[in-house]
Amino acid sequence: MASVTVVDHPLIQHKLTGLRRKETATGDFRRLLRELSLLLAYEVTRDMPLTRERIQTPLMPMDAPVLAGRLCFVSILRAGNGILDGMLDLLPSAPVGHIGLYRDPQTLASVEYYYKVPHDITERLAIVVDPMLATGNSAVAAVQRLKESAAKAVKLVCILAAPEGIKAFHDVHADVPVYTAAVDERLNDHGYILPGLGDAGDRLFGTK
Ligand code: URA
Repeated sequence: MASVTVVDHPLIQHKLTGLRRKETATGDFRRLLRELSLLLAYEVTRDMPLTRERIQTPLMPMDAPVLAGRLCFVSILRAGNGILDGMLDLLPSAPVGHIGLYRDPQTLASVEYYYKVPHDITERLAIVVDPMLATGNSAVAAVQRLKESAAKAVKLVCILAAPEGIKAFHDVHADVPVYTAAVDERLNDHGYILPGLGDAGDRLFGTK
């Protein structure tokens, strides 16, 4: 039942290499993350339901497909915001929720400091975004909160995942599909993904 989709399209893999390079500076990092996110949005919405709507082309009427399902994005602060822009390029009117979690540096457990999601989340697929699925603690906690809010369905999108993070996440949320651009080797002792790309938040916001 637990599903992991590694989106291995050549464009995604090429852009991911750019993100990983340590010499990639903030501006390029942002641009690449935005482009990657747009491409991942395409994949994560692949099974969205369609309905048909009567329209007029310049030549004749037809029953044309339009999206029927409703969704929202939920960003795990702060690095998740780097994925939002690209996803909103593709789905500009989707509402956005935010979940603020930080990692306790000693225990690596996640601590919540902010939670605001769309009021009608019970009618929406919630696409949770966070670039790094490392220990899995933040993703586990975020999805737990969304389930408590009775989100209609949940999917998780990241850029990089560690095998440990996928296992920890699916041990708790086997029903939530994970989409990632790559599964890396392992975590280091500080909970960073190896080979990884470093601290996604710092690289995105230029804070280190
Ligand atoms: N968060 C990051 O930003 N990078 C990692 O490698 C792990 C968690």
